[in-house]
Amino acid sequence: MDKNVVWHQPTVTRDRRAKNNGHKSVILWFTGLSGAGKSTIAHALEESLHKVGANTYVLDGDNVRHGLCGDLGFSDTDRNENIRRVGEVSKLFIDAGVIALSAFISPFRADRQRARDLVDEGDFIEIHVKCPLEVCETRDPKGLYKKARAGLIKGYTGISSPYEEPEKPEIVIDTSEKNIDQCVEIIIEYLTRKQIIVPATLDRSASC
Ligand code: ADX
Repeated sequence: MDKNVVWHQPTVTRDRRAKNNGHKSVILWFTGLSGAGKSTIAHALEESLHKVGANTYVLDGDNVRHGLCGDLGFSDTDRNENIRRVGEVSKLFIDAGVIALSAFISPFRADRQRARDLVDEGDFIEIHVKCPLEVCETRDPKGLYKKARAGLIKGYTGISSPYEEPEKPEIVIDTSEKNIDQCVEIIIEYLTRKQIIVPATLDRSASC
């Protein structure tokens, strides 16, 4: 960063936004293999939170790669940069008072740790969306595992590129054992227990 760049302190702070919103903002970081259900769970959770009036946004690997990260591929270096950028964007979202649901394979521990280190303790909630590779491969919703097995995609996570499981994630959900509603419920329960959302103060738009 250029030394002549000076931080401008905002007057509308994250705390003031939280008071207006009636909930805190955090990063819910969904990590797991392709096909494990990260986006599905993130969107289902967003539905539940939106219905009770929470401000949310899903940042999703495939979508972000259509724009902000459209110049990146799947080499290790490009994945590092992908996660660096979306980590910074997630940080901006929580500063804006939004619950950021960030769903990325994010296969490397060091990259996830770097994203965690951008924010305060408790602001980064790592959710391991766990599912055996064989099950992900059977689901293969985009047909990409098949292509990877046929050698048509190089460096496919789980096949020809590694996935480093989280060592101490805040939440683990196994989508081969639990259905979507059960997974959503586990996360809502966590958010309530940590007083990130207080359901009683959050039914402003229950009919939306
Ligand atoms: S990450 O590794 O950099 O975190 P990201 O979550 O953004 O990945 O994107 C993953 C999505 O890109 C997958 O769901 C899949 O649809 C697509 N994709 C295309 N090529 C690959 C690849 N080589 N490895 C993994 N996913 C790939």
